[in-house]
Amino acid sequence: MRLQLVAACAAVAVLGLACEKKTDTKPAEPKPAEVKPPEPKPDAAKPAEPKPTEEDVILLGEVGSLTGGQAAFGISTRNGIELALEEANAAGGINGKKLAVRVYDDMSKSDEAAAAATRLITQDKVKVILGEVASSNSLAMAPKAQEAQVPMISPSSTSPKVTEVGDYIFRVCFIDPFQGFVMAKFAHDELHFTRVAILTDKKSAYSEGLTEVFQKKFAEMGGKIVDVQAYSQGDTDFRAQLTAIKKRKPEGLYVPGYYEDVARIAEQAREQGLKVTMMGGDGWDSAKLFELGRDAVEGGYASNHYSADDPTPRVQEFIKKYQAKYGTVPDSLAALGYDAARVAVDAMKRAKDLSGPALREAIAATKEFPGAAGVITLDEHRNPVKPAVVLKIEGGKFKYVTTISP
Ligand code: PHE
Repeated sequence: MRLQLVAACAAVAVLGLACEKKTDTKPAEPKPAEVKPPEPKPDAAKPAEPKPTEEDVILLGEVGSLTGGQAAFGISTRNGIELALEEANAAGGINGKKLAVRVYDDMSKSDEAAAAATRLITQDKVKVILGEVASSNSLAMAPKAQEAQVPMISPSSTSPKVTEVGDYIFRVCFIDPFQGFVMAKFAHDELHFTRVAILTDKKSAYSEGLTEVFQKKFAEMGGKIVDVQAYSQGDTDFRAQLTAIKKRKPEGLYVPGYYEDVARIAEQAREQGLKVTMMGGDGWDSAKLFELGRDAVEGGYASNHYSADDPTPRVQEFIKKYQAKYGTVPDSLAALGYDAARVAVDAMKRAKDLSGPALREAIAATKEFPGAAGVITLDEHRNPVKPAVVLKIEGGKFKYVTTISP
């Protein structure tokens, strides 16, 4: 695990506190490019004000994949969280206290995510943990948070199992039983497919869950699942599976994986002369998909949490602020990272104190919260119920196609 002294340090530096530098013995990996130096805040320099101490800072924790196969997920999420906390601090923080976040890079690995959660709880004593994106990583962290009674909010893990770990575990995105239904419905009703094959990532709780739901729902609608093949995250050769799939003559191929694998699968499918429409889920959401998959991913469809084409003023306002700060259009990871941090801050404002149980209660009471990726009302299972969008890849980007509501 690697510590990113990003916003934590940024905020701490702003407040004039010492920033403890922690590194581990692992060989250095490239630093995410987007990490920016702290921006000076005008009032921090006022000599008349007493210097704040550590007690004046409310520390949040974040675990993300800043390097490794899902680095794009962690980096976007980080950006969203950073923007949210910057805004919260500019608006006065929580009862005069500033917010800071300590970030650990789990290098896209579950065991590192679990270790990072433990470190945030026992060593950094954070009030709340934000993360992870990949469901398998959140599943590794959640038991630690639950046991320590530290609320954890996953921005974007969609496997239902994540929040089932316990009453301290929340999320701000929809769940896979819905997301899988959305793509099955779209394949059946809009694309009029009757024969679909699935290529699933057997190393991912997310992919397995979506596969199960799609299979069931598409069959219920009268469609036929002609083949289900599997791979393991990070594999580079998918030719055997694609050859088997080709023999079954599907019209569509559902690949509920993450962008790096999906791009390779699309390329190899094309090489093999497999002419199918590819379909997937939120795991496709990264500009990296187009960089790596280029022409091979054109024409594919994916379900997702948000579309940058959404004209809702609240959404466009978020996009404008994000673009001004980072120079890119936010993906759904960034929007959900922003939402998760804002839900945490909102709960801190309402909580009777910042103890785990009080904060847990306040988060659980989140209602009609206007997020960038939809309005959030948490149900009794600590999941929001929100619509999904279907996007189509055209000209190297995602284009909005339709919205499907639960
Ligand atoms: N939903 C995915 C998971 O649970 C993570 C993800 C969310 C990826 C949003 C991309 C965009 O593993």
